Amino acid sequence: MHSRRALLYMPGDDRRKIEKSTTLGVDSICMDMEDGVAVNKKAEARAVISQAIKELEFGSSERCIRINSIGSGFEKDDLASALMAEPDSIVVPKIETAEQVKWVSEQIESYELSNKLNLGSIRLMIGLETAKGILNLKEIAEADRRLEAMIFGGEDYAASVGAIRTKDATELLYARQAVVAACAANDLQAIDIVFIDFKDKEGLRVEAQQGAGFGFSGKQVIHPNQVQVTQEAFTPSEESIAYAKRVIESFEASQREGKGAYALDGRMIDMPLLKNAQKVLARAKAAGKI
Ligand code: COA
Ligand code: MG
Repeated sequence: MHSRRALLYMPGDDRRKIEKSTTLGVDSICMDMEDGVAVNKKAEARAVISQAIKELEFGSSERCIRINSIGSGFEKDDLASALMAEPDSIVVPKIETAEQVKWVSEQIESYELSNKLNLGSIRLMIGLETAKGILNLKEIAEADRRLEAMIFGGEDYAASVGAIRTKDATELLYARQAVVAACAANDLQAIDIVFIDFKDKEGLRVEAQQGAGFGFSGKQVIHPNQVQVTQEAFTPSEESIAYAKRVIESFEASQREGKGAYALDGRMIDMPLLKNAQKVLARAKAAGKI
């Protein structure tokens, strides 16, 4: 699966920002047709995105297009236009039911079939950002094999439940952690909230590290200044990689000696700590660090 430590949005009608995004070494570039684009610029966004995908070199950054939500009235034209551009991934916001995921996946599949693309070559990510989406998490997460990642939208979710946003985001805690659990249960990537105060790098670092600590694999970002800090926060540190390797080696040795639990540096190690160490190495590998 493509590593998505940072998923950078920009308004799809802004060619200059799309061009800039290709110079940043960001894991994923998400050209937006939804809320980053004014209602009277939707058609222009479709045209600018198609042209940009044709003309620009994105390097190893993933090319994603976010369409408008299902029921907005824009989704059919957005999806048709997005599919013709043949991006790496389609992002669908404000998903509330498993049927919506299946509907999008079927549209993608019929495009792949009629254009002789390999089945599954266009990936799918969805946004969960309403109370209903969080209530239906389990069915949504299990809905379709094409699904690779679920993205939690904090601002829309707060609006949906009437929460007041605070800097430490305690009002989002339940929903964020519910998304992580649903993703982990279905081998999906979990992508955390946007930090909208894009001049505050220290605040971003704290929130990104908290998200990584919760088990998110990446975070949405909205400004070039946020890319590096975020990608670092979702890359295991040298120390945690070294420690994970020691846990794995010592675990194997202790199993051979017939011990399930043992001590390493004065701390108890058993099976769950081994699994966590394996996750750290898997993330380090996905980030190209080992
Ligand atoms: N992607 C790519 N480039 C971006 C960018 C983004 N999201 N945000 C800013 N830039 C570029 C600007 O074009 C500018 O480049 P330039 O110097 O070559 O002209 C540079 O980075 C500095 O930008 P800055 O002046 O600090 O910001 P701004 O006032 O132009 O834009 C925002 C601020 C918030 C409007 C802008 O960051 C943005 O549009 N973010 C994404 C919004 C979005 O997509 N929302 C929907 C999803 S949540
Ligand atoms: Mg949103």
